[in-house]
Formats: sequence, C-alpha cells, structure tokens
Amino acid sequence: MIIDILTLFPGHFFSPLNEGILQRGIEKGRAQIRIFNLRDFAGDRHRTVDDRPFGGGAGMILKPEPIDRALTWLKGLPEPVPRVILLTPQGTPLKQSRVKELLLHPRIILICGKYEGVDERIAEFFCDEQISIGDYVLSGGEPAALVLLDAVVRLIPEVMGCPDSGKEESFEEGLLEYPQYTRPRNFKGHLVPEILFSGDHEKVRAWRRRQSLEKTVKRRPNLIDHERLSPEDREIIKKFEENY
Ligand SMILES: C[S@@+](CC[C@H](N)C(=O)[O-])C[C@H]1O[C@@H](n2cnc3c(N)ncnc32)[C@H](O)[C@@H]1O
Repeated sequence: MIIDILTLFPGHFFSPLNEGILQRGIEKGRAQIRIFNLRDFAGDRHRTVDDRPFGGGAGMILKPEPIDRALTWLKGLPEPVPRVILLTPQGTPLKQSRVKELLLHPRIILICGKYEGVDERIAEFFCDEQISIGDYVLSGGEPAALVLLDAVVRLIPEVMGCPDSGKEESFEEGLLEYPQYTRPRNFKGHLVPEILFSGDHEKVRAWRRRQSLEKTVKRRPNLIDHERLSPEDREIIKKFEENY
C-alpha cells in the first residue's frame, strides 16, 4: 500500500516512521510511506502556502493552489489512482470499520491542515473524503495522519507480529475486547479470574464473551448492534442491565 502525506512539517513523521509497526510495515515492503512538503508546491519565491481569511477573522488559511499543485503532480505518477483524504475535525469520525475499508485502496493521499485549516474549496472539490480522529481540535493534521497510518498499517497482512492478534479486538463485532491478564497470578492482592486456569476452552470462550458484552454495555452502549447479537448474547445483556 502506498500512503502519500502532504504536510508543512515533515519532521513530525521522522521518528514515528522509524519505530514499531510503521517501521515494520516499511521494512517488510508492505507499506510505502512518502512525505511531501507542501512548501515545495508553493508558486512564489517566498514559498507562500497560507493567506488571511476572506471576511476577516483570526489566523491563516492554507491556500488552495499549493495543495492542488501537489495533488496534480501526485496523481500524475504512474501508480494506482489515489484516494485523497483531508484530515479535519469537521470530517467523518474515524472508526475501525472505515480503517478496514481504507486497506482496500492500494494508494491514499493524506492532507494535513495547519493554522485555521484549509481553504474550503479543497475540502469540497478536491478530496474524496474528510476524516476526523475525534471531537477535539489539534494544532495540525500530522498527529491525525499518524493515528490513521498506525491503524491502517497494522492491519496490512504480514505487518503485525502475531497475525491473530487483530482478530479478537475491540470494535470487532461492535464490542469492546474482554479483559486480558498475564503473570503474576496475584498482583498486590488482585487475583486473575480462576476460570482462565480451568483449561476448559469452551468455558473460557463463554466467559470472555460475557465479559466483552458486559464491558461494552457498561462503557460504550452505543456500540452495540442488537441485530448482530445471538439470542444468548441478548439474554446476557438483558440480565446484566437488570442488575446494573
Ligand atoms: C487548528 S486545526 C483547524 C480547525 C478549524 N479551524 C476548525 O475549526 O474546524 C488545524 C488542522 O489540524 C487538523 N486537525 C485538527 N483537529 C483534527 C481532528 N480532530 N481530526 C483530524 N484533523 C484535525 C486539520 O488538518 C486542521 O486543518
């Protein structure tokens, strides 16, 4: 997968691309991540990329021309047609389901805004979609691009150390993951649930399912899609809600 990033601050990416899952994806040749400085696409000798907002107001707006020039050049490369994504707090909140869909694109371009944001015409007419990483405002799109990068690259086949670790995670099936424990069995008087030592895989599976359902009802009830649940799951939830 090719991921091109348009940014005014390429330095944000130097260290993250050299650590952990992103480094592994790059080294395995599964993720090609390229960083482009928007200033290189400015049209004047001062390398201007921003200007004051029409109608007045604080701060600066990223001009449309440098972004358009960068997109035109990137789209002209003899590579798969890219999906163009603008990172913005006004975009669709990023969900695990969308992360999985993005994996299907062989190439994406991420545009990182800065200052007061990007000229609206870029958002409206030159991007395929707008993504937000949450209902808060960052100073720039770079941390958002890194969040999206990490979430996507870890799902590319062969990138994760243990391929099974992505299968039973939070948000799979609209549920939070069950609680996980490791050694020691007794930590400062807090014991690991006895069932996990029973050796009975079916009982452990059922216990984990119950925990997962109850945790989701308690913390993120909005995630639960009752249509997708089995009658047994619904019964567990009903009983839990009655006693909660
Ligand atoms: C200070 S923000 C601009 C916010 C803009 N004035 C608004 O109110 O919508 C600067 C840049 O940071 C990025 N950004 C900020 N918060 C974000 C979020 N929650 N998700 C994705 N990108 C974000 C965007 O690229 C944005 O253009």
